[in-house]
Amino acid sequence: MKILGIETSCDETSVSVVQDGAKVLTLVTATSLEMHKKTRGITPENAARKQVEYMIPVLQEALSNQDVDAVAVTENPGLIGSLVVGVETAKALSFALDKPLHLISHLMGHIYSLWLDKNRKEQPKFPFVVLLVSGGHTELYLVKSHQQINFLGGTRDDAVGECFDKVARSLELGYPGGPAIDAEASKIFNSQFSIYFALRNTRKVCNKNTFKLPKPMITSKDCEFSFSGLKTAVHRITLSKKLNNDEVTQLAFEFRETAVEILISKLLFASKMNQTKNIAVVGGVAANALLRQRLEELRSTYTVFLPHLKYTGDNGAMIASNAYFNNYSK
Ligand code: KG4
Ligand code: ZN
Repeated sequence: MKILGIETSCDETSVSVVQDGAKVLTLVTATSLEMHKKTRGITPENAARKQVEYMIPVLQEALSNQDVDAVAVTENPGLIGSLVVGVETAKALSFALDKPLHLISHLMGHIYSLWLDKNRKEQPKFPFVVLLVSGGHTELYLVKSHQQINFLGGTRDDAVGECFDKVARSLELGYPGGPAIDAEASKIFNSQFSIYFALRNTRKVCNKNTFKLPKPMITSKDCEFSFSGLKTAVHRITLSKKLNNDEVTQLAFEFRETAVEILISKLLFASKMNQTKNIAVVGGVAANALLRQRLEELRSTYTVFLPHLKYTGDNGAMIASNAYFNNYSK
């Protein structure tokens, strides 16, 4: 069963053909990221105009010589102008090819990145707790089956990806902020690589606590998050004095440590509450090097499911996979 998946919720125009929910036959993604770098953030109208420009060439390349049995598209949430381009394209294709159309939630789509290009052994086992971390969302779900995905809690204010983006802006590290902070923070990790590994539990090595950043809601006994206080704390530090390059690196390092500590601690809380040792992380922030490292370290006690790096960001393949498992798998 081959499904064509279309994802246009934000600044990516992504089209994919996926077989039986897991095997990615084609995946073509164009992005208007470079344009948004100039405005240090996304302008919705400009993103929508780029979707119109990219859609047909991306579709042509992804669909070349592929017969498909169904069409799937991201319906919500996202930027309305960007979403409309994908939804109208999918409707027209479904009509012209006379194939069923499936409207998919972007958030549920991210969860299905866990199945992409994974063999049966590596695919998630139910039930599992999944942390969805992206530019617009920070949420925990209990996934009991393909039909039963229960919302456990989410952020009360900023999403963690947005927090990375805003902190990078305060530190003048560029856009998008997640990869920029990851790279900046990794300078410390890399330069002290061996010592860090030898002494990583001592907390002395990188002098991690220079800026005393807050960890909002880390101890609250629920599945809720808050990131605006952490974002503001970093911003206040940058306003209070001109930071030199080393201080910028140190602050990026401490911010990443703090954000990841909050995410891991809430994920483990949710896992305990729901009595499952199966845990997963998906969404753009799941590309974070420190977060992935911490999850690798948990493998001795937990069964950890992570998407391949190339499927952490927005892509059409996860949308096709979701449509397959919701409608066609036994
Ligand atoms: O899922 P995604 O591609 O798009 C949305 O649905 O929002 O996530 C984008 C977010 C952005 O905030 C970006 O800064 C963040 O994911 N991100 C990262 C990393 N790579 C992307 N955050 C932290 N570390 C990264 N390596
Ligand atoms: Zn996303």
